[in-house]
Amino acid sequence: MTVHFIGAGPGAADLLTLRGRDLLARCPVCLYAGSIVPAEMLEHCPPDARLVDTAPLTLDLIEQEYIKAHAAGQDIARLHSGDLSVYSAVAEQIRRLDRHGIPWTMTPGVPAFAAAASVLGRELTVPEVAQSVVLTRVSGRASAMPEREKLAAFGATGATLAIHLAIHVLDQIVSDLTPLYGADCPVAIVARATWPDQLVLRGTLATISEQLATNPVERTALVLVGPALGTQDFRESALYNADYHRRFRS
Ligand SMILES: C[S@@+](CC[C@H](N)C(=O)[O-])C[C@H]1O[C@@H](n2cnc3c(N)ncnc32)[C@H](O)[C@@H]1O
Repeated sequence: MTVHFIGAGPGAADLLTLRGRDLLARCPVCLYAGSIVPAEMLEHCPPDARLVDTAPLTLDLIEQEYIKAHAAGQDIARLHSGDLSVYSAVAEQIRRLDRHGIPWTMTPGVPAFAAAASVLGRELTVPEVAQSVVLTRVSGRASAMPEREKLAAFGATGATLAIHLAIHVLDQIVSDLTPLYGADCPVAIVARATWPDQLVLRGTLATISEQLATNPVERTALVLVGPALGTQDFRESALYNADYHRRFRS
């Protein structure tokens, strides 16, 4: 018996990987969080699969589900939103599985920041403007930020910031970042990227708060900040330059 952790992607049911789909199709038990996994995705599960919505469950109860399925020799597909590598609460589940000697695997998914970039139609790294993307968040009820991981510290680099779980503190983001990026720095808010009710707000550090006040967004939104989001004034990458010698180009 194995627990298969699967990144379910940002929302659209067809942004699941083929590997994730095939695992769903062969696991007799599926654990998923109802609010962030589209119902359509569960149609890949066998018709008689046991589907467990984890939204109302504690970690202890989820652990019990794993132990129960392990005793019955039943594989579990465990869906988490986006990719498993960030803010997925997979680490604590894996630690408990290891204590019980229950095997597990991880299958990646499309993370929200990549989905948001696609919705915006932007590359988040642009030559000589920004070559790093910082995936970060602000302190929340679930967990505080480590002392050294301040937004201003990341902002000092000028990198593109993809700020998760933070829509409720947009004013704080604006006041932390305006001295570093300037008031005219582009900002985008992408809410529920790839869901049917997706919403995009585009502005600058000077204007984005007003836009949010006019179009309220309560949750499941990313705040993207950085000059790479707006500029058309950048040098082309040398990669496709005719003078650039590549192993695969004669
Ligand atoms: C608990 S984290 C999960 C992140 C996820 N593991 C990932 O790979 O993107 C939830 C936060 O991710 C962001 N998020 C997740 N799905 C999103 C979507 N479809 N559109 C915009 N932001 C999303 C929001 O900031 C949300 O508050």
